[in-house]
Amino acid sequence: MAKMWAGRFSKEVDETVNAFNSSIAFDGRMYKHDIQGSIAHATMLGDCGIITKEDSLTIIEGLKGILADIESGTLEFDMTAEDIHMFIEAELTNRLGDVGKRLHTSRSRNDQVAVDIRLYLRDEIEEIYSLVKELAVAIYNLAKEHTETVMPGYTHLQRAQPITFAHHLLAYVQMLVRDLDRLNDTAKRMNYCPLGSGALAGTTYKINRKQTAELLGFTAPMANSLDGVSDRDFCVELNCALSLIMTHLSRFSEEIIMWCSWEFKFIELDDAYATGSSIMPQKKNPDITELIRGKTGRVNGDLITLLTMLKGLPLAYNKDMQEDKEAIFDAIDNVKLCVKTFTPMLTTMRVNKENMRNAAAKGFINATDCADYLVKKGIPFRDAYKITGTLVAECISKELTLETLPLESYQKMTDLFTEDVYEAISLETCVKERKSEGGPAPDAVKIQLEIAKEQLGI
Ligand code: ARG
Repeated sequence: MAKMWAGRFSKEVDETVNAFNSSIAFDGRMYKHDIQGSIAHATMLGDCGIITKEDSLTIIEGLKGILADIESGTLEFDMTAEDIHMFIEAELTNRLGDVGKRLHTSRSRNDQVAVDIRLYLRDEIEEIYSLVKELAVAIYNLAKEHTETVMPGYTHLQRAQPITFAHHLLAYVQMLVRDLDRLNDTAKRMNYCPLGSGALAGTTYKINRKQTAELLGFTAPMANSLDGVSDRDFCVELNCALSLIMTHLSRFSEEIIMWCSWEFKFIELDDAYATGSSIMPQKKNPDITELIRGKTGRVNGDLITLLTMLKGLPLAYNKDMQEDKEAIFDAIDNVKLCVKTFTPMLTTMRVNKENMRNAAAKGFINATDCADYLVKKGIPFRDAYKITGTLVAECISKELTLETLPLESYQKMTDLFTEDVYEAISLETCVKERKSEGGPAPDAVKIQLEIAKEQLGI
């Protein structure tokens, strides 16, 4: 494709350089937003009398025609074009002749690309927001069914204290609520319009930046033209938000991987969401969750790409910035894929309440409650802790649990132990009594469900 900047050059650009320089292969996906930005710019040029009203309308119609033709597949991208902006402008000029050449008045590709990527990411954020919200609602619904499902809570992956499955699930809902907040925040901070920044130093034309900002749904024009063309903070911020979403999915994935192992068997994935082995007929593998865990590294890699790309750049635009797109697009594409797969996998999995409960019944997860029993009878916590530790050691050597250890063994330690100790350390009591705010007791979880409902606006 002929170069628009060819005037200054006496040679054609080398083919390898052209291919190296070109970004249309990945920025082509912003065609709609490029046209949207150009329509706003052309409208403003017409309204401000920088081009005639008639030319403005012709350009807008031409751009709409190009959009329709791209969408219907009649117009294909010329892959030798330098980027999507050049391609659309050249196509416009092909169609309109000299009128098309007026579109780029008082504009640079630097403010053009800056506005395009903001518009593009704004739409993507909206889509990701609803996908993450859908996932949060699915987890919330699952939690509602499991307020009485007792399972072990872990620290250091050692059974620690009893919780309920609902309690565990609602922890993820809270993480996702923060993710939603972060997406909103990013969208809000990003929503300022760079159009009119020109190449870097604004323009001598009497443009109306407020009008283009308004037409494109931005809060206001960006305050400084150098910042307008060189800011990519929003890509970093969005990638941070995406990295955290992936981190949350990855932690959940790790748990699901463990939970569907024979060692746990807390859940079983639906056949449609698991895979087999090519050699071992018995295998049912949680590939989805492993892939999500793996892709988290990749999305984090995108974040590092963006940060590293930006850190040494002098103001204002530098071509390095073209590298922003592949990184942030990759992060977006992968997050969407992961959330879209994770949600139905979660809603179709089978929960094995009995195995959860059995696991909670072993591992002395009521030892803290046993110590607390003594504290309630006046013993200082540290002493109660030591007594309970000794009892646990006795149980281990005799292959007993605190529930099956005879009362004499308890009373050998202190006669403050009476028959009611068994009631105090029963799994039911241990869960039911953990009713402090945010705790696992069904009563406390019901409040958390209410909070989540409000946060999710459902
Ligand atoms: N394809 C370029 C990018 O993505 C567009 C801006 C080019 N500007 C320039 N002065 N070469 O960053």
